[in-house]
Amino acid sequence: MRAALTALTDELRRLKAIGVKSVSVTDESIAILRRVVADRKSAAKPLAPIAEPAPSVQARGYELPVPAASPKPPAPVVAPIATMPPPPKLTMPEGDRQTRWNALLAMVNGDVTCRSRLRPGKKVVLGVGSLEAQIMFVGEAPGAEEEIQGEPFVGPAGQLLTKMILGMGLKRTEVYIGNIMNWRPDLPTAPGATQIGNRPPTEEEMRYCLPYLRAQIEIVNPALIVALGKTAAEGLLGFGAVKTLGEARGRWHEFAGKPMMVTYHPSYILREPTNRKKRMIWEDLLMVMERAALPISERQRGYFLDK
Ligand code: URA
Repeated sequence: MRAALTALTDELRRLKAIGVKSVSVTDESIAILRRVVADRKSAAKPLAPIAEPAPSVQARGYELPVPAASPKPPAPVVAPIATMPPPPKLTMPEGDRQTRWNALLAMVNGDVTCRSRLRPGKKVVLGVGSLEAQIMFVGEAPGAEEEIQGEPFVGPAGQLLTKMILGMGLKRTEVYIGNIMNWRPDLPTAPGATQIGNRPPTEEEMRYCLPYLRAQIEIVNPALIVALGKTAAEGLLGFGAVKTLGEARGRWHEFAGKPMMVTYHPSYILREPTNRKKRMIWEDLLMVMERAALPISERQRGYFLDK
């Protein structure tokens, strides 16, 4: 456990050094970390002398203490995130949408780079939904549930996304849901243990996976794209193109020749489920509904207006 905790600390420091501001952590992981921290407190010997304020992990509204930094951080005990080969050049077959999508699924499942990033028993994730969808939602990367099921947005954030889609008067099966990433970005985890938390994908990782997303856009040919969260928006619009999500959301951008709305990621609401935040996403989705010529009732227009 001590080795795993040291590895986690090293990785958090490394991520902080490359500009990663937060990683999300599941409730289960929080419970495990709390136990570790409690065990450490009761142990006779601390892991390392406290020399500077500990970095923190933000997780669904929790602030988790992370073991304090020593004056000279020890050499990382985990390999850094492997550098990526150049993005794959995909040659799509002729045929109808289903034929091409099936071929793409076979390509991503056979991609050795994607496969090499998976933990044992976990799955590569491609998009899901109607291949004739008018609206395509694009998120960041699979999380714990998604890499088990091999389907995007099936965990807590996905359940909220499904509710948002229902609120728009659509079924989940009537839209298309994808991610920039086809695998869950790794964090150091002891062999056989469950990965604790998620980290945002690096620029290189997203660049590697982008051809798969572009191919899905080409196959589905949606009228509109909705980018969920800053990472997805940056992955699509270019790094450095999105200074703050507050400034990028609620207006139309363009990706792959399609109008693209940027809005908050559903996990933003999960962290603080206030009507004010729900309304912000909802106003963006009302713009999407208007542009997609979906019917909008007075009731829908008024969602989440109550404080
Ligand atoms: N968050 C994402 O961005 N994508 C998923 O598939 C799940 C959670």
